[in-house]
Amino acid sequence: MSKAISVVKILVKTDAVRKELTEIISSLDGFAIQQDDSAGDSDLLILEIGEPPERDFLYASVIKKAGRTKGIFFTSALTAPEILLEALKLGIKGFFPQPLDRQYVKETLLNFRGDQKDNFENRISGSELKSGQIITLFGSKGGVGTTTTAVNLAVGLASRKDAPKVALLDMNPFLGEVSMFLGIESAFDWIEVAKNIDRLDATFLMSALTLHESGVYVLPSPVSISEGFQANPQVLETMLSFMQTLFDYIIVDSGQFLDDNAKAILKLSHLTLLVFIPSLPCIINLKRIMDTFYKLGYPSENTVEIIANRSIRNAEVSPKEIEAALKKSIFFSLPNDYRNTMSAINLGKPLMDIDGRSEIAQKFSALAALFTNGEKPGEKPVVLPETPKKRKASLFVNNFFKS
Ligand SMILES: Nc1ncnc2c1ncn2[C@@H]1O[C@H](COP(=O)(O)OP(=O)(O)OP(=O)(O)O)[C@@H](O)[C@H]1O
Ligand SMILES: [Mg+2]
Repeated sequence: MSKAISVVKILVKTDAVRKELTEIISSLDGFAIQQDDSAGDSDLLILEIGEPPERDFLYASVIKKAGRTKGIFFTSALTAPEILLEALKLGIKGFFPQPLDRQYVKETLLNFRGDQKDNFENRISGSELKSGQIITLFGSKGGVGTTTTAVNLAVGLASRKDAPKVALLDMNPFLGEVSMFLGIESAFDWIEVAKNIDRLDATFLMSALTLHESGVYVLPSPVSISEGFQANPQVLETMLSFMQTLFDYIIVDSGQFLDDNAKAILKLSHLTLLVFIPSLPCIINLKRIMDTFYKLGYPSENTVEIIANRSIRNAEVSPKEIEAALKKSIFFSLPNDYRNTMSAINLGKPLMDIDGRSEIAQKFSALAALFTNGEKPGEKPVVLPETPKKRKASLFVNNFFKS
């Protein structure tokens, strides 16, 4: 069944960007490029946002109001969150950050062509909907390695052979450290996404996430306390449900606070991994947290597992004693390796990139392998239960260590 050709108008600031967009669009069936910039209406307008952006925003809003095009897409080398926010406000169909990701541009344009109805399913890209597993890492105390575990589990999953799509969410209320651990700067944080959840579609959600070179899509925590907006459990549920349709795994660094938002995430999680270190105060806390979960009624016992971080042989408190005290088996143990974990943090790299042969890096690969099917002989994949219910402190420091 053939559809009419979609005419694309390209209004950009440099020949290089025009050339690249022309190449991308020419490789797609069903699209034609409008040769004369001044010529009338187009089906689709790709507009570059320059500095200062206000003029381009005004142009876009006028064109849109006048009904001169069916869809406007922005492209820009500027990554200020204001651009994406303005785009959302104006009802722009998509955003192509520069340098352009060719595949992403192609998919987005093809989806736009297929996108006749504006229902929720259509908003979630033309491709098949996923139903991702939410795995939440919760610390039984501060500083036990929750972020280290979340980050390296996410990277481990993304590097599996079948390349699952992995998102990593830093749900610490603010000053989370996931970005720093991965040496990335993100224009967007989860509060910004939550704020705009009503206007968000798949294209924008993907633009709001920062793609790390490991393949993990990162959504960090805010770098400052956000005024005037309170995320609530309902907003979080919408955001996570939306992400589930786009990713195979959503790894959440939940810190160690049990406020209403954290509870909402625990309720939605398929698996909660409680991270602890084999020290007495930490084990006592762990017991208290498990008792609290039991009293709350969620997450249910069969969706909670415990991870012993910084395990050492001949420890004063043995794994057997821990398991007896907690009446729970240790799901996974990670070795004590201060040198590599510290280098990883200071260099903003996953452990795999610090020393892929180290025991700790290998352990993270093995942990990730537990969640994917039968790639390692002798290891049973973890069967995740059904969903219970249907300081950017330191980009500065991070850069300091890099330089
Ligand atoms: N397996 C390990 N062996 C040795 N040191 C570790 C290990 N895992 C983490 N650490 C160290 O513990 C410290 C805290 O790690 P991390 O930030 O991951 O913990 P956290 O629980 O997220 O802390 P916070 O409560 O600050 O969020 C870091 O200095 C890190 O190097
Ligand atoms: Mg942390």
